[in-house]
Formats: sequence, C-alpha cells, structure tokens
Amino acid sequence: MRGSAATAAIAGAMIAMVSSTAAMVESDVSKVQSLHAQLITPASDALFQAESKPPEASDEWASIAAKARDLVRAAKELQSIESAKGQTQWLQFAHALGEVAKQASRAAEAKNQDALVSANGDIVSVCEDCHTIYRDGGRSMKE
Ligand code: HEC
Repeated sequence: MRGSAATAAIAGAMIAMVSSTAAMVESDVSKVQSLHAQLITPASDALFQAESKPPEASDEWASIAAKARDLVRAAKELQSIESAKGQTQWLQFAHALGEVAKQASRAAEAKNQDALVSANGDIVSVCEDCHTIYRDGGRSMKE
C-alpha cells in the first residue's frame, strides 16, 4: 500500500513537471529563445571567457560588468513572461539568476577576479538547474 502510494505520488509529480513545461505558450518560447540569443548567451560567454583570459584594463572590466548587467536584465525578463505566472520554480531560478549576475557585476566593478570566478560558478549552477527542469524534461546535464 505504502509503496504504491509513493509510486503514485512520484508519477503525479512527474506529470506535473511535464505539464508545467508544456504549459509554456509558443510566444513565450520564442521570447525565452531571443532572450538567450540577445542577452543570456553573449553575456555568459563573456563572463566565462574572463576566467581563462582575465580582464586587465579598466575598460575590459567595465565591459564585463556591463555583460553581467545584461544578465540581470535578462533575469528580470524571464520572471515577467506570461508563462512564468504561478511557476514557482521558474520564478525562483530566474530570480536566482538575477542575484548571481549581480554578484558578477559587483565583482567586475571591483576588478576582483576571484570573486568573478566564484560568481560564474554560481551562475552555471542556476543555468543548469533551470534547464534540468524546464529544458531537458527532468534529465540532468550534471550526470
Ligand atoms: C529560468 C530558466 C532558465 C535559466 C535561468 C536559463 N535558461 Fe537557458 N534555456 C531555458 C529554456 C526553457 C531553454 C529552451 C528554449 C527552447 O525551448 O528552445 C533554454 C535554452 C538554452 C540554450 C539552448 C540554445 C538557445 O539559445 O536557446 C542555451 C545555450 C542556454 N539555454 C544557455 C543558458 C545559460 C548559459 C544560462 C545561464 C547564464 C541559462 N541558459 C539560464 C531556460 C533557462
């Protein structure tokens, strides 16, 4: 009895997860894609590249800080799409992305490479957490 109740609960959770992903309206899917293309991907590329090639000049740091602010902006947009309404986890991931992107922008403003690397690590986790549920249908990229 207990086992089957647990199985039913797990199946219920999985159905909820699948339907929450499917619930995204088409226009929001393209919004999420263009946010990635215009802000998220270029910003995160620049932030991650700054690890292997640390910024030296002030204007290099300033451009990294600007990219981090792009990511903050994208995070706000992710929270404001129609399909995000009532999607607690989506809202949490999008909010978390804004917070870690702010850390990266503060690190770049302070020209602090160690803090930037650490903020980048946090950023990657948030990207992956959201993808695991909302992009990869529950399949983890971490495994
Ligand atoms: C709030 C959820 C969420 C967060 C946070 C998020 N993504 Fe995504 N990402 C998605 C979804 C959903 C898709 C799939 C969009 C689709 O259906 O094509 C996606 C797709 C992608 C893709 C596939 C190609 C593309 O451009 O659409 C890449 C690359 C990507 N994300 C990178 C990132 C990176 C890097 C971060 C962190 C800096 C990030 N994402 C943060 C939800 C998120």
